[in-house]
Amino acid sequence: MTPRLNVRKRDKPIARRLVVAMYNLALDPRPSGGAAAPVPTRTIFPGGWRSGRTSGMEFNQIVRRRRMIRNYDPERSVPSPIRDRILANALHAPSGGFSQGWAFLVLESPQDRERFWAAAAEEEADGSYDWVLAGLQRAPLLVIPFAHKAGYLERYAEPDKGWTDQDEARWQMPYWYIDTGMASLLMLQTVVDEGLGACFFGLPPSRVPAVRAEFGVPDAYEPIGVLSIGYPAPDTPSPSLKRGRRGVAEVVHHGQWGQHQP
Ligand SMILES: Cc1cc2nc3c(=O)[nH]c(=O)nc-3n(C[C@H](O)[C@H](O)[C@H](O)COP(=O)(O)O)c2cc1C
Repeated sequence: MTPRLNVRKRDKPIARRLVVAMYNLALDPRPSGGAAAPVPTRTIFPGGWRSGRTSGMEFNQIVRRRRMIRNYDPERSVPSPIRDRILANALHAPSGGFSQGWAFLVLESPQDRERFWAAAAEEEADGSYDWVLAGLQRAPLLVIPFAHKAGYLERYAEPDKGWTDQDEARWQMPYWYIDTGMASLLMLQTVVDEGLGACFFGLPPSRVPAVRAEFGVPDAYEPIGVLSIGYPAPDTPSPSLKRGRRGVAEVVHHGQWGQHQP
C-alpha cells in the first residue's frame, strides 16, 4: 500500500524536462508586515518605494514562466528570507472589505512534512506507485493556505458594511475562497521571481479532518489546497497541458457576449 493524493497520475513518465531556473535572488526592498500606519491621503506608488525590478525578471516573464513544478531537489531547502518574502507577499493580496480572512500553515522540518503526508495521503488500493506524489514529497517547504469564512461574515457585519444578520445568502461569491486563492497566486508568482518552483495541489476531502487534527487547525479554517515549494528538479509536464491555452479571441467578449476581437 502506498500513499496517494488526488494529484494527476501517469503510470510511466514519457517525457522529462529540466526546469532551468537561474534567476537573481535579490530581495524586494518594499516594506511589508508590521503595524499598519495611518495613511491620510492616498498615493499610488509613493516615491519612497523603489519602482524598479530587483530580480531581473519582467512581470510578464514571471506570469508566463510560472508552471506547476512537481519535483524538487531534496538537498536544497528554501532559504528563510525567500520563505518569508513568499509569505509576506501573500498578505498583499486584495480582500473583500479588507477582511484578510486567511491563514497559512508552514511546514518545513522533515518531521512536520512527514506528519502532513501521513495525514494527507490516501492509501492506494492497488498499491501502484504515484510518481507525482513522490516528487511533491521532496518539496522542502509546504504552505497550506486556509480560508476563514467567519472572518468575512464578521467583517461585513461591521457598521460600514451592515450585514448584521451574517446571512451567507448575501454573498454572490464566496470571497473567502477568492481572496485566499489570490494570496496563493501571489505566492506562486513570488516563487518564480525567486527562481524556485511550486505546485498548487488539492487535498482529498476525506483527508481534511485528519490534517486539521494533526496540526490543531480549528474547524472554521478551510484548507483551499497546498503549495509545495522548492528548487526545481526534472519533472514531467502535466498531460493537461495538451489541451492548449485558450486564446484571447475565444474567451474575451467585447461589448456583447459572443462578439470577439473588434
Ligand atoms: C485550483 C487548482 C487545483 C490544482 N490541483 C492540482 C492537483 O491536485 N494536482 C496537480 O498535479 N496539479 C494541480 N493543479 C495544477 C494544474 O494542473 C495546472 O495549473 C494546469 O495544468 C496548468 O499548468 P501550469 O500551471 O503548469 O501552467 C491545480 C491548479 C489549480 C489552480
